[in-house]
Amino acid sequence: MRGGSYQSVHQVSSRLAGLEFLGRRGYDARSRRTPIATRGCLPIMSFDARSSPSDANTTAQLWALAQQVLPGGVNSPVRSFKSVGGDPFFVERGEGAWLVDTEGRRYVDYIMSWGPLVLGHAHPVITEALQAQLQRGTSYGAPTAAEVEMAERLVRMVPGLEMVRLVNSGTEATMSALRVARGYTGRSRFLKFTGCYHGHADPFLVAAGSGVATLGLPNSPGVPEEAVRDTALLPFNDLDQVRSLFQERGEEFAAIILEPVMGNAGLIPPEPGFLEGLREVASEYGAVLIFDEVMTGFRVARGGAQERYGVTPDLTTLGKVIGGGLPVGAFGGRREIMEQVAPVGPVYQAGTLSGNPLATAAGNAQLAWLEENDPWPQWEAYGTELVEGMLEALTEAGIPASGRVLGSMWGVFFHPGPVRSFEEAQEADTQRFAAFHREMLHRGVFLAPSPFEAGFLSIMHGREELDLTLSVARKAAKVVGNGRAL
Ligand SMILES: Cc1ncc(COP(=O)(O)O)c(C=O)c1O
Repeated sequence: MRGGSYQSVHQVSSRLAGLEFLGRRGYDARSRRTPIATRGCLPIMSFDARSSPSDANTTAQLWALAQQVLPGGVNSPVRSFKSVGGDPFFVERGEGAWLVDTEGRRYVDYIMSWGPLVLGHAHPVITEALQAQLQRGTSYGAPTAAEVEMAERLVRMVPGLEMVRLVNSGTEATMSALRVARGYTGRSRFLKFTGCYHGHADPFLVAAGSGVATLGLPNSPGVPEEAVRDTALLPFNDLDQVRSLFQERGEEFAAIILEPVMGNAGLIPPEPGFLEGLREVASEYGAVLIFDEVMTGFRVARGGAQERYGVTPDLTTLGKVIGGGLPVGAFGGRREIMEQVAPVGPVYQAGTLSGNPLATAAGNAQLAWLEENDPWPQWEAYGTELVEGMLEALTEAGIPASGRVLGSMWGVFFHPGPVRSFEEAQEADTQRFAAFHREMLHRGVFLAPSPFEAGFLSIMHGREELDLTLSVARKAAKVVGNGRAL
């Protein structure tokens, strides 16, 4: 596979099916000044300071101002680069697989807004759907056909869904799914796994356990102990401990929730039999099995991890990817459980902007593209070459590393591997990763600013981006290996 001739998934799929699909929607590729397949190669355009909300436009000016008016200068903690050092850049625009900052520097983007942008930045499938909806209004607070279309699409594409409720974020999806599981079972306790992130609702914000089931302790001030009293923690991929916990107290558990592939601790797949074992335990003890596929949905396979591994949960949570970059989420699953949700059932859940027409327009457009195209094999080919190349560069520089690719998600640990749990991931060399991150960024490649995050691909990542990334990785690894990093 190495050295193979690459086109971006987009280039290939455009010729096969994508442009046909776009054509059906009235898109005429010939009338564009820049063909969409080459958008990642646009020349740098100069930054127009008038588009900035203030006079600040250099990174240093914006960062100084940001820290005065936003806690830590950001609206979500990981954006602050705290775990890799240095200051974040400020995005002026996205183009395909690239970000352009306010100083005109370009970066190959492996974050893709932390997952949603499977079609890359500013893809016409999304922007044209949004423009069409904008003419017709931004929110109605009354039912729309697009919500029904989106729900139907999700039910068709994700094996475990018979009914869904649309919400506005992944956090809303997981906290609502937990409430429904508790309402359905009449029980309170639930099991989560260390290193799995399920958003920032109180019951999920629990410190990593010590490898045994334990009553949770809140790991954020402001989360009362009562809120996490019913949260039990175990290490990922340790089915024996799950079995012993449930043998002792299984009847107390409303739910088992997990990322079926961990993406918030680096990329950690389930060991063979782990998901199947959880399915058995949950069924045996009447607990609701919840797969949090906010990150893995439509990324590790069209139908998410549940399709890839052939294990069907009772409830599924989705987010990010189903909105094409707009704020959205969903939870759903077996009809019998979802019919507990108000107004058909007694479990209350609501949202003024839920099923928002802009989010459903972008979401339907992206999901339709994913339904009609098959980018996953190309993603895995790109990801494999990327990870193999990075591991080779790191190993040659004397830095032990291991990595994985699953669909359009990939991850490299500064750890010889295997990494099967958050506990093992924490043994990674975080300082060298931080130095590597800075060196990559300095040379125009934007990796997630944390050693414990997955990387994301879009259909706009192609040969140009891959070659550049690997050549930069070789230089960065050498500098880090020599101890001369920034
Ligand atoms: C697996 C998983 N669940 C839930 C969430 C929370 O989603 P949001 O940030 O949209 O609230 C995330 C966010 O990264 C996630 O990765």
